[in-house]
Parts: sequence; structure tokens; C-alpha cells
Amino acid sequence: TNRTFTMLKPDSVEKGHIGAILEKINASGFRIVAMKLTQMTKQDAEAFYAIHNERPFFGELVEYMTRGPIVAAILEKENAVEDFRTLIGATNPADAAEGTIRKLYAASIGENAVHGSDSDENAAIEGAFHFSGREMF
Ligand code: GTP
Ligand code: MG
Repeated sequence: TNRTFTMLKPDSVEKGHIGAILEKINASGFRIVAMKLTQMTKQDAEAFYAIHNERPFFGELVEYMTRGPIVAAILEKENAVEDFRTLIGATNPADAAEGTIRKLYAASIGENAVHGSDSDENAAIEGAFHFSGREMF
């Protein structure tokens, strides 16, 4: 069993998709270890996405991720990181498989509904970025 970190991004919250996305996450066998509604500051988003800070879309990405609240969560399942990335689908919803969260709920590559950690190491770093030990169950 291991863990991944996710955010239901501002577009998902704005469109009222929190319930539907959480239902898919539950139905896919993930246990919720931690969860909250929160809003990232510009500084938070710049740090969280620091790996992309040279990319041409970095400014847009920070603007998008800070424009409203997100749902941050830690999820537990066997093979959590890989299975969650399969569940959310490709970064660009146009390339995402049928039935994936991004295929169903994402508008574009720039507003793609959800985040999923890309490694066990990053899952731990990203989870700790948003939650203290007392908020993890
Ligand atoms: P995350 O789970 O959010 O990390 O997405 P990912 O791992 O599928 O993609 P990646 O880490 O490469 O990119 C991080 C985020 O940057 C994406 O989820 C998008 O929100 C955004 N992004 C990536 N490429 C583009 C792009 O070409 N244009 C814009 N506007 N945003 C992009
Ligand atoms: Mg990524």
C-alpha cells in the first residue's frame, strides 16, 4: 500500500465537480487519508510547481492554480501513484482515455481539473506541503 497526493483544481471547484470526482476516486479503491478545501497563494503555487518555472506557461499555471479554492487530498491504495495517474488520464484532456477524470471534467491542457503526483517521492513532498501529521489519518 502507498500514497499519492491530489488537488481538485480551481476549475473543478468552480464547476461543482468536487462530488463527482471524489465519487470516482472512491469507486476506484482509494482511501482518503487527508483532505481540505484551501487556496494556494502565488508563493505557494510558484514553490509547488517550481520544476516548471522555466516553461512558457508558468505564469498562466500560477494564475490558474491560485484563482480560487482547491481540494487537496492524500490518497492511499496499492500502487497509488501509477493507478491514480491512470485514473486521471493524460495532461491534455484531448489525449485522455475515455472514462478518465480529465476526459470527463477537464476543459483544456491549461485547465485540466486535477493534479496527481508523478512519483512516490513527490507524493510525500506534496502531501507534506499541504498537511501536517495531525491532519493525516
Ligand atoms: P499535474 O498532475 O498537474 O502535475 O499534471 P501533469 O503531471 O499531467 O503535467 P505536468 O506536470 O507536465 O504539468 C503541470 C501542469 O501544468 C499541468 O497539469 C497543466 O495544468 C499545466 N500545463 C502543462 N502544459 C501546459 C501548457 O502547454 N499550457 C498551459 N497553459 N498549462 C500547461
Ligand atoms: Mg506533473
